[in-house]
Amino acid sequence: MTRCVCPGSFDPMTLGHLDVVRRARNLYDEVVVAVLINPNKTGLFTPEERVALIEADVDDLDGVSVMTFEAQLLVDVCRTTGAGAIVKGLRGETDYAYELPMAVMNRHLAGIETLFLPSDPEFAQVSSSLLKEVARYGGDVSRFVTPAVAEALRERLGKD
Ligand code: PNS
Repeated sequence: MTRCVCPGSFDPMTLGHLDVVRRARNLYDEVVVAVLINPNKTGLFTPEERVALIEADVDDLDGVSVMTFEAQLLVDVCRTTGAGAIVKGLRGETDYAYELPMAVMNRHLAGIETLFLPSDPEFAQVSSSLLKEVARYGGDVSRFVTPAVAEALRERLGKD
């Protein structure tokens, strides 16, 4: 049985994230989607809301579970869940510059390897923060999130 972790803030999950989770599931028997909560950052959605939205998004996938972790190292999340690797999407050079030090550090800390999956070009410019900004001012983000997330964004940000 092989298991990996797909970590992130997922505030909220985008179709880009979902694509990475699906592709990770093609590579591993089990995927743990780890919602990491930074106690110093207030998100748009609570940890419980993020988990519920992700669970709805991955409903059709066997072997995918969703968990939240607060103020913990990702390598400890890997230990706790028994995952042998981290899988993340890479949208471009900016992601690479941000991700590389963490990947090197995680390997140094616990021998955990990080696998980078190149983003589907359709989602290469999509981030949760950009979508929140567009949705906040009434823009349509429904192409980049599931209907459940689009509805949650509309409800939370008060636009229709
Ligand atoms: O979706 P994000 O915000 O880009 O995800 C970043 C995240 C949560 C994966 C990263 O910040 C992380 O791994 N945080 C856990 C704390 C940790 O292990 N920090 C040291 C990394 S070397």
